[in-house]
This record gives sequence, C-alpha cells and structure tokens, in this order.
Amino acid sequence: MATLNALIRKTLRAAFNYDPSFCDMYEDAHASSAAEEYLSHIRPAIREQFGDRTLTILDAGCQAGRLLIPLAQEGHRLIGVDTSAFALRRTQQHANTRRLAVRLHRGNIANLRRWVAPGSLDVAICTEVLYLCRDHRDLLRLLAESVKPGGLLGLSHRPPVFYVGVALRRGEVDAASSVIRRSEGPSPDGAYHNWQTPQQLDALYREAGLRVLSCVPVDHTAMSLDLSAVRDPDVTQLLAPARSAARGTSSVGSSSATDTPSPERTLPARSPARTVPARSPAHQGDSTYRIPQYFLVIAQNR
Ligand SMILES: C[S@@+](CC[C@H](N)C(=O)[O-])C[C@H]1O[C@@H](n2cnc3c(N)ncnc32)[C@H](O)[C@@H]1O
Repeated sequence: MATLNALIRKTLRAAFNYDPSFCDMYEDAHASSAAEEYLSHIRPAIREQFGDRTLTILDAGCQAGRLLIPLAQEGHRLIGVDTSAFALRRTQQHANTRRLAVRLHRGNIANLRRWVAPGSLDVAICTEVLYLCRDHRDLLRLLAESVKPGGLLGLSHRPPVFYVGVALRRGEVDAASSVIRRSEGPSPDGAYHNWQTPQQLDALYREAGLRVLSCVPVDHTAMSLDLSAVRDPDVTQLLAPARSAARGTSSVGSSSATDTPSPERTLPARSPARTVPARSPAHQGDSTYRIPQYFLVIAQNR
C-alpha cells in the first residue's frame, strides 16, 4: 500500500506538478517563522564578516527556498541544491514570482563538486538536512571545503534532548536513555537520524577544519513530559535546563556533559550572545519542557 501511494505521489508530481501532501516550507506559517529565527542569527554573522557586500551563498538542501528566497531578495547570488525536483520547482516558482535570478541544481549534496568549485563560496547554509544523512561528516567536510578561507557556514543539527523528549512523550523511558548513549542510528521514530551535543558539534567542526563561532538552540517546542518512571540520572540532568526554561528561569550558558537545551548556548563566540525568542505555551506546569528542535551552528572556515 505504501509503495502504491509513493508511486501515485511520484506520478502526480511528474505529470501534473501536483502533490497535496507536500509541505512547502517557504509558505508554511510555522516553518517560515522558524526560517526567520535562523536568519536572525545568520544575517548579523554575515554582516559582521562581510559588511554590505553581495555574496555567493549556497543553500544545500534548499527545499522550497524558505532561506534561499529571503537571502536572494537581499541581493545575494544564491545557489540551491536539493534531491527533490518537485521542491526545486517550488523554489523556482517563488523566485519567478519575485523576479529573482537563482541557480538551482537537482542532486545530492554529496555531488556538490558538479556545481560548486572548492573555495568558491562566501557562505554555505544547510538547515534541517544533515541530521537526515548517514554521510553527514563527509557532507560537512565538503561544505567546509566549498567555502573560502574566512567564509561562513550556517548549519543546523538535532540536539539529543529533542529525541529524548520524543521518546518520553511516548512513555519510552529506555529509548530516551538509548538516545543519550548514541549520536546516530534509529531515533525514537524508527528512522535513521543523527544528533549531537554542542561539545560533539565543536569536535566535528574542528575535524572539518572549521571554527565554531556560535551554537544556539532554535525553534523551541513546548512538550509535556512525565518523568516519574525515569531512573536514568543523565536523562533528568539533560532535561533540567529545559524545564527551568519553561518556567522562565533558564540558566544562560550552563552546560552538562550531555547536552544543553538552555535558551541561549554559545560556544566560543565573537559576538555578544543573542536571545532566542520564546514560544511560550499557554500553560506551563511542572511537566512542561521547552525543547529546541535544532541547534544552529555558525562556523568559519579557517
Ligand atoms: C527538512 S527539509 C529542509 C529544507 C531547507 N533546508 C529549510 O531549512 O527550509 C530537507 C530537504 O533536504 C533535502 N535533502 C535531504 N538530503 C539531501 C541530500 N543529501 N542532498 C540534497 N538534498 C537533500 C530534501 O529533499 C529536503 O528538501
């Protein structure tokens, strides 16, 4: 049945450019407000590094262009890459409507060299993509090598606390502990994902020849979690800052051995810490946690 649905979907996309189940992240209200949150960190970093220059920016895994279109509207030269032809057609439509010239390529980021020469980019962004990819380390290195020395990268990653939250919301206490002791593999939803603490990201970026400028949690979600069955101290330690954040008494810049879901976490940064706007739930009881969906890392090629 699933195969038949996939076939119907593929045929509708190819023959009629139609897919009612596709979430256009440029048009979707929640996704576009998260895009603004990403850009509220990316824009100042770009301005600080490059001033008002027109830049060549790659959006790797651009989907419908929720970051690509606003950056193109600011006058930059945008290159978008995505495996999905349907998503790229959406990006092209949004660009055409706004009379923007953008370069779009269909394919895997792993094949980036077909379209992007080493050291040719000022900035590379890649949000909500690498956590899906088994070859995320290779892709990170490839993106790093595509950026000029001194150029910037803005990439997002899943924090462990996100999957711990997902597991506990389903009452899967052992799965929550398992997330903390791994950084990739099947996540609580069964599919392959990878997730990292700020410390693990710092190490990954160093291996790729990059310097992390900041690492901030973005797109917070309120989750109601029952911790009564949790016996793993690492799980409760990981979640503690997320609960104090839900109460509005977060500890800025604190860190645990595993993860730091505080509203503002910066690694060696050259700019003053910026505060992430809270999406506070209507009711915040003791069981309410404010959990980031992603970390956004801003890094510089050495
Ligand atoms: C969750 S969406 C994120 C889109 C966009 N970066 C954003 O933040 O709005 C993930 C996108 O990445 C694309 N993608 C996933 N893995 C990819 C890969 N290895 N190469 C190119 N595109 C990829 C998918 O087709 C999808 O459009």
